[in-house]
Amino acid sequence: MARSSNLVASTAIALLLLLVSSHSCRAASSSGKNPSAVVLPVRKDGTTLQYVTGFRQRTPQTPVTAVLDLGGATLWVDCDAGSYASSSYARVPCASKPCRLARTAACATSCVGAPSPGCLNDTCSGFPENTVTRVATGGNLITDVLSVPTTFRPMPGPLAAAPAFLFACGAKFLTEGLASGAAGMASLSRARFALPTQLAATFRFSQKFALCLPSTTSAGVVVFGDAPYAFQPGVDLSAGSLLYTPLLVNNVSTAGVSGKGDKSTEYFIGVTAIKVNGRAVPLNATLLGIDKQGVGGTKLSTVAPYTVLESSIHRAVTDAFAAETAMIPRVAAVAPFRLCYDGSKVGSTRVGPAVPTVELVLQNEATSWVVFGANSMVPAKGGALCLGVVDGGPAPRTSVVVGGHMMEDNLLEFDLQRSRLGFSSSLLFRQTTCNNFRLG
Ligand SMILES: *[C@@H]1O[C@H](CO)[C@@H](O)[C@H](O)[C@H]1NC(C)=O
Ligand SMILES: *[C@@H]1O[C@H](CO)[C@@H](O)[C@H](O)[C@H]1NC(C)=O
Ligand SMILES: *[C@@H]1O[C@H](CO)[C@@H](O)[C@H](O)[C@H]1NC(C)=O
Repeated sequence: MARSSNLVASTAIALLLLLVSSHSCRAASSSGKNPSAVVLPVRKDGTTLQYVTGFRQRTPQTPVTAVLDLGGATLWVDCDAGSYASSSYARVPCASKPCRLARTAACATSCVGAPSPGCLNDTCSGFPENTVTRVATGGNLITDVLSVPTTFRPMPGPLAAAPAFLFACGAKFLTEGLASGAAGMASLSRARFALPTQLAATFRFSQKFALCLPSTTSAGVVVFGDAPYAFQPGVDLSAGSLLYTPLLVNNVSTAGVSGKGDKSTEYFIGVTAIKVNGRAVPLNATLLGIDKQGVGGTKLSTVAPYTVLESSIHRAVTDAFAAETAMIPRVAAVAPFRLCYDGSKVGSTRVGPAVPTVELVLQNEATSWVVFGANSMVPAKGGALCLGVVDGGPAPRTSVVVGGHMMEDNLLEFDLQRSRLGFSSSLLFRQTTCNNFRLG
């Protein structure tokens, strides 16, 4: 009798603990419900051409500025003494499930000194990487509160809090080369603890996000979860207005630090041809595929300001573009570009300078990412207007790296569950920009 009531009591206590602990793991928003979407504002740093975001983290809540990256493994921030103060951080223990899922074999077993985010016993280690400078270091994996807005326009609205958001501790030196004020980098990659998957797991919304990068003078947005893609004035890109192409997995990691057998966490798409003014550019198609060593193919990168092409592709595209624009007066090339025009002699259209289109042809002829002047041409010094593609050398790891400028004022939906990329082409065509995105 006594035994069984004990058992009942301890079962009840265990259940209660389970409820309490699962409750404390749940995300909290001001309304007490999980949001269906959260947003991050994006601005472009005019000096570094990086895309920068901001959110709140820690206790008390501290605004944090970080450079956005479609690559990378997770969020990392400078945790050096003096840079990180919080009463709510916790270590990720070496033997824990998150440590296993983070796919890092490393563990910081002991640290002599006062406990701090950078000095903890029995803590899982990550390898935060500055993907701009390609410098990486070892650092503790810890968790802390992270708060992000649930509405956008006219102002970022009520915050939703992820109570135990996992990230890596970087260091002051690792922030060198980042936009002024940035304390780290926020990864949008497909990695388990990058923002898209971690926010989806925390808030229980879909594993997808939409990226709308701004040009220098405006503001853009990243929307995580399930939200209508509504833009002022009255433009809705949610249903039926995007084209889709499969997101490909490069089976060989493209990160600075990786384990054996790790796949790349970056986003690759299957470009099969490139057209200029509707005509296919002759190029070596083998370079467009990803080989067994993970070399070749096309990826999207927000830390490349301009699109980078393998040398022979660069030459072919530049030659084709030059041939189609023989009537426009040229000026001397302005580095890093090879083909520049007298900007005053180039007409303008709703979608930017009046120049031939460049098309990235995808899985079939009907599915092609059409690039107009606003995304292909870059104003350079002396009034020059240059074709914004850069020579990546004869043997780059990835043949085509679609850079930030080519993605600006385009809506890109990265759907990790369905493994596909939705793309809108230029929003300027629809008389709107990323600056007009609204939510709530
Ligand atoms: C780690 O454990 C050792 C031994 O128990 C202890 O002396 C040290 O203070 C601990 N370090 C931290 C940062 O807690
Ligand atoms: C990666 O590996 C999978 C399974 O082995 C295969 O189906 C896929 O085609 C590979 N991806 C590439 C880009 O080769
Ligand atoms: C095409 O590129 C592949 C991969 O770099 C190379 O092995 C091959 O020789 C190239 N073919 C031609 C015709 O240049």
